[in-house]
Amino acid sequence: LTNDELKGRKIIVTAGPTIEPLDPVRYMTNHSSGKMGYAIAKEAKQRGAEVILISGPVNLEPPSGVELIKVNTTEEMHNAVEKHFESCDVLVKAAAPLDYRPVTVSKNKIKKDKAEIEIKFTRNPDIVACFGKMKKNQLLVGFAAETENLIENAKKKIVNKNLDFIVANNILAENAGFKYDTNIITIIDRDGTTTDYPLMKKEDAARVIIDKISVMLNC
Ligand code: C5P
Repeated sequence: LTNDELKGRKIIVTAGPTIEPLDPVRYMTNHSSGKMGYAIAKEAKQRGAEVILISGPVNLEPPSGVELIKVNTTEEMHNAVEKHFESCDVLVKAAAPLDYRPVTVSKNKIKKDKAEIEIKFTRNPDIVACFGKMKKNQLLVGFAAETENLIENAKKKIVNKNLDFIVANNILAENAGFKYDTNIITIIDRDGTTTDYPLMKKEDAARVIIDKISVMLNC
C-alpha cells in the first residue's frame, strides 16, 4: 500500500446521527457522534481518494479537502447518497440514521395539556440496504452497533443488506462505540471470517478499515 493508493477512487462516507422533527421545536435523534465516520473520511482523503462526507448534525470539523454534504433526516441522507452512488467506488455507511420518523410532524408546538400523548411512527428507508440492491461494482461497507448477539446480528446484516464487509462494535463495551474516541471493532467478511481488534483510537480503526478497502479495490 502506498500513500496515495486511493487516487482516482471516489468514496462516500456517511456519518453521525440523523434527526426527525416532531414539531417546530422538538426532534428525535440518537447518541452517534460522527467520530468514526469523520475519521474514515479523513483517512480516505489522506490516502488520495475523492471523498464525499454526508453527515447528520455533529460537533466536528470536517477533514480538509472532503466535500461535506450536511443533512438532517434519514430521507435527506438517502437522497444525498443517491445523487453520488452511481459514480462512486465505495460507500461506507458509518452513520446511525433513525429507523422511524413521525407519520405527521405537528405544525404547531405540542402542548403539555394532556397527561399522555401518542405519536405514530413510520419506517424510514434502510439506506444501505437500498443501495445493496442496486449496486454494480461498488464496495459496500456497513456498521453494526449492537448491545447483544453482536456477531450473529452483524452476519445477518451482511446478507440482508448485501454488504461486502461489516464493522461490528458492541456499544456497551467500556470506552467503545458512541461518543468515545476509541472503539473495539470486529470485521466480518461475506464468507463469515471474523477478525477481532483490540481497543483502538477511532483514527487507528479508520486506518484498518481503509487498508481493507484498498486491498479489496486492488484485487
Ligand atoms: O441500524 P442497523 O443496525 O441495521 O445499521 C446497520 C447498517 O445499516 C449501518 O451501516 C447503518 O449506517 C445502515 N443503516 C442505513 N439506513 C438505516 C439504518 C441503518 O443505511 N435507516
